[in-house]
Amino acid sequence: MKTLIINYKAYKEAFINGLNIAEYSNELSKTSGVSIIVSPPFTILRDTAKITKTIAQGMNEVDPGAFTGHVTWFELKQAAVAGTLLNHSENRYTSSKNGQLDYVAIKIAVDKCTAAGLETYVCVQNMDEAKEILKMNPTGIAYEPPELIGGDISVSNSKPDIVKEFCRLIKDNSNSLALIGAGIKGKEDAEKSVELGSDGLLVASGILKTNDYKSVINDLVEGLSK
Ligand code: G3P
Repeated sequence: MKTLIINYKAYKEAFINGLNIAEYSNELSKTSGVSIIVSPPFTILRDTAKITKTIAQGMNEVDPGAFTGHVTWFELKQAAVAGTLLNHSENRYTSSKNGQLDYVAIKIAVDKCTAAGLETYVCVQNMDEAKEILKMNPTGIAYEPPELIGGDISVSNSKPDIVKEFCRLIKDNSNSLALIGAGIKGKEDAEKSVELGSDGLLVASGILKTNDYKSVINDLVEGLSK
């Protein structure tokens, strides 16, 4: 079964259309054979979780306690969400010491989620990061080249060779889903991603920044179902 993750980011539209997008995703998931997951801002997580499969946009790797402004696995469980994105390009696990990606912290976060029965979708920017993350056995690994995020050129069109290599790497070396995202807008992008070996997509602006989100979701689901 292919997966479509709709990342609402912090767009204003998340609060205007967010619950309707969740309703529509729920309906379409039942009939299409594509698993559609929504990832709204924290303040409406509980609302969408009552409607459809929902994941958070991120989580801190700490346990419940004196951590002002942090979000723990326990809070996500309390909100009845299914899991979380981790290490999205706009919210990376970088070390405050050297600015490098903090793989130890990511692994702690993945392990805490797994122990709590939460799914984990970890974003990576390149193959080197993918090689490290696949050892952690998350539910999914999403390749998103940062320069294409929010634009009109899709990752599947712009980087077919890397996408193919990424999907092969994940499939040959792990049980994680190989997902891709960035600039995905329509059916052709979705079809191409499947051709290249992907298990699904992460999409944000293509759905959030249009009034006709239903037809975009339909197109993506059709493309993923080919
Ligand atoms: O997580 C999805 C994302 O970063 C891609 O954003 O706007 O290019 O679909 P967008």
